[in-house]
Amino acid sequence: MEAILLVGGQGTRLRPLTISTPKPLLPTAGVAFLAHQLARAHAAGVTRIVFATSYRAEMFEAAFGVRAHGVELVYVSEAEPLGTGGAIRNAARALTSGPDDPVLILNGDILSGHDVQAQVALHEKAGAAVTLHLTEVDDPSRFGVVPTDGEGRVTAFLEKAARPVTNQINAGCYVFRRSAIDTIPEGEVVSVERETFPGLIASGAVVMGHVESAYWLDVGTPEAFVQGSRDLVLGKIASSAMPGEPGDRLVLDGAVVSPGAVVRGGTTVGRGAEIEAGATVLGSVLQDGAFVSEGATVRDSVIGRGARVGAGAVLDGAILGDGASVGPGNELRGGLRLWPGISLPPTAVRFSTDA
Ligand code: GDD
Ligand code: MG
Repeated sequence: MEAILLVGGQGTRLRPLTISTPKPLLPTAGVAFLAHQLARAHAAGVTRIVFATSYRAEMFEAAFGVRAHGVELVYVSEAEPLGTGGAIRNAARALTSGPDDPVLILNGDILSGHDVQAQVALHEKAGAAVTLHLTEVDDPSRFGVVPTDGEGRVTAFLEKAARPVTNQINAGCYVFRRSAIDTIPEGEVVSVERETFPGLIASGAVVMGHVESAYWLDVGTPEAFVQGSRDLVLGKIASSAMPGEPGDRLVLDGAVVSPGAVVRGGTTVGRGAEIEAGATVLGSVLQDGAFVSEGATVRDSVIGRGARVGAGAVLDGAILGDGASVGPGNELRGGLRLWPGISLPPTAVRFSTDA
């Protein structure tokens, strides 16, 4: 089976990490995020993937080449982003599938443990134009809301609805009949969520929902990105692309973790990164060459390449861009982000026990 992988988005919610690296290539549990998706696609029977690229397009081929994780890879780029539907139509030029063949379409920022083969089987059995993977979330307002009838047929598609009618959402993995892709207008900006799906439903085409609540996460926000990496390291979702066994932490080659440091909760320590004695690092992503000084606490945070956390500093839910530096004693909490190269001086006020 062939697939199209949508990876052209700018990943704005993940800035500053996505300034230098597109979201799907961010190091996640030791490898580029997409490596996990490629490995899972391969396991589901996908043999060839067309990457639909736009933002920093050249970096994808540089990262994966013509074959990776058992899948042949082809790259099709948009000069200007064409939206999700336009990107699918554009990338379809590189497909070899026949008109009735099923083609898998994947959002490039999803970690999913669902059964793709069962989704394809439903698609074939129903003779559907499109079959969507649907899952349930607590807050559906950030997603495509997708009600279905008693037979599993999709009755509406409401992208980012202010008042969601159900908690059942579009999980970002579709099976398209190849000929249904060809109904998307060519060379135009089209949203598959706002135009193609509602259009197909209105025209009476068979659009099915494969409802499955396996592990599922969109890693498009900082909190979710850190969670995805953490869950992979802890083994909450299995990935054959992970360079190590699941466990409390993943320490990559050339990293130095002091025996006097506490590092766990699914933390990844990148190549050449260092954690000094007395530091505590929980559930975080330390990119290559990151440095955490003695007595610092880092929780649920991302430390960019070569970024530094000073002695006794506290980071909780924070993001440090590449080469950023937090001076000793500072506290960064609740989503704070430091842009690449920015340095926070040491805190002027020193807390000491013998004052
Ligand atoms: N090639 C290309 N060109 N890719 C694009 C473009 C484009 O113009 N715009 C977006 N993409 C890619 C992104 O890189 C991402 O992999 C995917 O399309 C979805 O875009 P997001 O920006 O992540 O969308 P979202 O998370 O707000 O919403 C989408 O995913 C939800 C599930 O996580 C929608 O499909 C929702 O309906 C869905 O519920
Ligand atoms: Mg997304």
